[in-house]
Amino acid sequence: MLGQEAPCIVTPPPGPRSREFALRLARAEYPANVARRALREEASGVSQLPITYATAQGSNVVDVDGNRYVDLTAGFGALLLGHNDRGSAEALRRQAGRLWHALGDVYPSDAKIELLEALTALAPFPDARVILGQSGADAVSAALKTALLTTGKPGVVAFEGAYHGLSYGPLAVCGYRNSFREPFRPQLNPHVRFIPFPSGARDASEALDALEGVLRSRNVGAVLVEPILGRGGCIPAPAGFLQAVGELTRRYEALVIVDEIWTGLGRSGSFLLSVEQGLLADLICLGKGLGGGLPLSACLGTPAAMHGWTRGRGDVVHTSTFSGSPLACATALTLLSELRRQDLSRRSAVVGAAWVEKLHTHLRGIPGYVEVRGAGLMVGVELTSAAVAFEVGRKLLTDGYITLGGGRDYEALTLTPPLTIEEHLLDSFTEALVLRLREAVR
Ligand SMILES: Cc1ncc(COP(=O)(O)O)c(C=O)c1O
Repeated sequence: MLGQEAPCIVTPPPGPRSREFALRLARAEYPANVARRALREEASGVSQLPITYATAQGSNVVDVDGNRYVDLTAGFGALLLGHNDRGSAEALRRQAGRLWHALGDVYPSDAKIELLEALTALAPFPDARVILGQSGADAVSAALKTALLTTGKPGVVAFEGAYHGLSYGPLAVCGYRNSFREPFRPQLNPHVRFIPFPSGARDASEALDALEGVLRSRNVGAVLVEPILGRGGCIPAPAGFLQAVGELTRRYEALVIVDEIWTGLGRSGSFLLSVEQGLLADLICLGKGLGGGLPLSACLGTPAAMHGWTRGRGDVVHTSTFSGSPLACATALTLLSELRRQDLSRRSAVVGAAWVEKLHTHLRGIPGYVEVRGAGLMVGVELTSAAVAFEVGRKLLTDGYITLGGGRDYEALTLTPPLTIEEHLLDSFTEALVLRLREAVR
């Protein structure tokens, strides 16, 4: 089926045209990415030169050399319906034919208002209020500002290993890697405390004790949590942990912000994983998949949590030029209706669970393998080291499978394919992974 085809490698990637583009990229882009690739090449002994995407459809990407890949990343998890989804493309064409850009918070488009209403209807609390943004980091910034306005307390508790984006507000609360934060520390919010993200029941009770210790200071306005550490390697919170975080936080009159930017909208097999796990947050951040491939994010809040915005009596706002972009709102509306029509949260849960089982069965006993984990179609395969993960990931690319490195030390492969991916592609990927892992640890 179109967009669900097996890999077809016509020239070993990166082919000559990709190499040419990589040179041009290195000359024009800021130098961090080249430096990072060099570091990874040193760690793995394997080239990290990028391929360049040319076209894509469904679960397939074709590069500028004509190689066809199966995309196990879906653009950092953002393409829930796959690449170039027909319904979304049609919505985009229709909207582009009549209105590209409105006037944000002054004169909105009809598409923006429809999307706001759709989001309030989906929220797990009545009379939700919404702030739209363009990136996940925007949604987290909006939530942090909201919490401070409403509680008057600047303190934030966040988790080690959690990722919330890299603009200044989110960077201060981003526990994923110290190296991301450290150079900017003099300009970051100093009122942030990090506590360990638990991986089992015993860790969970220690983390809750640590949380309570910080909450006792009474200076904390928000506790920010990811239901699954996404970039952290797809590590789910232990059962009951999220609910306990919610109860504790409320007791100390702080707000709970849940970052469902990666887990939400069906990716983790639930529409909102926090709700399924008994956490009723005050503020919910959505992003990635929300725009159906266009940059869009949202911070949803209860009326009580959002009340702080009335404090400035109209003189405190949070907006930007492209806020509520009609094009992104139109594709988001299509995305939300397709998720419902195709029951994709359920499909993600069922297909993901079967895949995780298969991965574990086939990988068990291979020396470089540690574990497979996640929920729905948000899956992490932990390997014994970053060097093994980089090597395996790269060899899989030459087989025609696009994967993403993850985990705090890059020791994992992160797999977040479109929720519409056909199972035969997951099966053939599993076989390729087994072969490449055996080879890497030989
Ligand atoms: C859980 C989570 N929150 C926030 C973000 C930041 O989103 P963006 O990169 O769109 O700013 C990410 C991005 O990967 C994420 O995974």
